[in-house]
Amino acid sequence: MIVFKNVSKTFDDGTEAIKDMNLHIKEGQLVALIGPSGCGKTTTMKMINRLISITSGTIEIDGRDTSAVKEVELRRNIGYVIQRIGLFPHMTIEENVGLIPKLKGKKKAEYENRVDELLNLVGLEPEIYKKRYPLELSGGQQQRVGVVRALADEPPIILMDEPFSALDPISREQLQDELKQLQTTIKKTIVFVTHDMDEALKIADEIVVMKDGVIQQIAAPQELLRNPANEFVRSFIGEERIQTYLNDHSSQSIHAFVDSTVTRPEDAYVIDASLTIKDAVRYFIQQKVESASVKENEKVIGVLKKDRLLTALAGIDEEEAAR
Ligand SMILES: Nc1ncnc2c1ncn2[C@@H]1O[C@H](COP(=O)(O)OP(=O)(O)OP(=O)(O)O)[C@@H](O)[C@H]1O
Ligand SMILES: [Mg+2]
Repeated sequence: MIVFKNVSKTFDDGTEAIKDMNLHIKEGQLVALIGPSGCGKTTTMKMINRLISITSGTIEIDGRDTSAVKEVELRRNIGYVIQRIGLFPHMTIEENVGLIPKLKGKKKAEYENRVDELLNLVGLEPEIYKKRYPLELSGGQQQRVGVVRALADEPPIILMDEPFSALDPISREQLQDELKQLQTTIKKTIVFVTHDMDEALKIADEIVVMKDGVIQQIAAPQELLRNPANEFVRSFIGEERIQTYLNDHSSQSIHAFVDSTVTRPEDAYVIDASLTIKDAVRYFIQQKVESASVKENEKVIGVLKKDRLLTALAGIDEEEAAR
């Protein structure tokens, strides 16, 4: 478990990159850090393996304050895929990938099979690529090697900073699937930085949304879609994704969500009580309104608010899940 306690980072030039961050990353979870450029994702990640020092607060790994652990030891136990690939140009692919196991004193025979397996997994035939140097590979291929290198020694914690950003959409989806699959079997704790909300929603157990060095929300993908904590999160997820999600989960009637205590003149917008949640949400989106009067048998029976519908939807799903 990785625990951030009131962690702040101010760079020498005065840039406050991280402000009072509190975060629990559970063992075996894949946590995605997401947010606009400059919000502090890479800084957060580099504070975990101490590539960047903390200005105040503490980071603990399995109850141990990381500032008390030797940097070398820390980094050997934390796999790291950096944002800009970071392979050693003078080493072959094989040497790059085997670096950490070798540094740990393992013999080549002990890790060679695993390296071949992983290279195959990311679509790089070992026989062809092992003896090549990084510059003899395309950018996307190099990035795959970076991923393999981080996994090769199976460290308990893996930090991945936009590891798939240079890949074409098809390879990217494949690797997302592989990573997700891999994570369910090897159960590593993975901190994954991405700009891509679909990627985060697809692979993460928990998503941490950041803005200007401050965490805006920590939630599982479904929860994030159901209950964005604020306008920033909402707009960052994108209205379209939220609605798609809700539409997929809402074939019930709106009846239960109508507020009949509100007695006011009929809105310009009127919907029928027999509408499904899905249709009502669609109506709100299309008409760009926040509420509407609800009619049953030609009589206004109350008001339906878009917000109430969205909040209530969360409750429905929880009940469903409990059954
Ligand atoms: N060495 C440094 N000195 C001063 N400021 C820095 C330094 N490194 C990063 N920053 C600043 O800290 C803030 C957070 O940077 P960081 O690299 O963590 O962002 P990021 O979320 O990873 O962005 P991106 O998505 O573009 O990679 C930015 O404002 C950045 O300019
Ligand atoms: Mg970054």
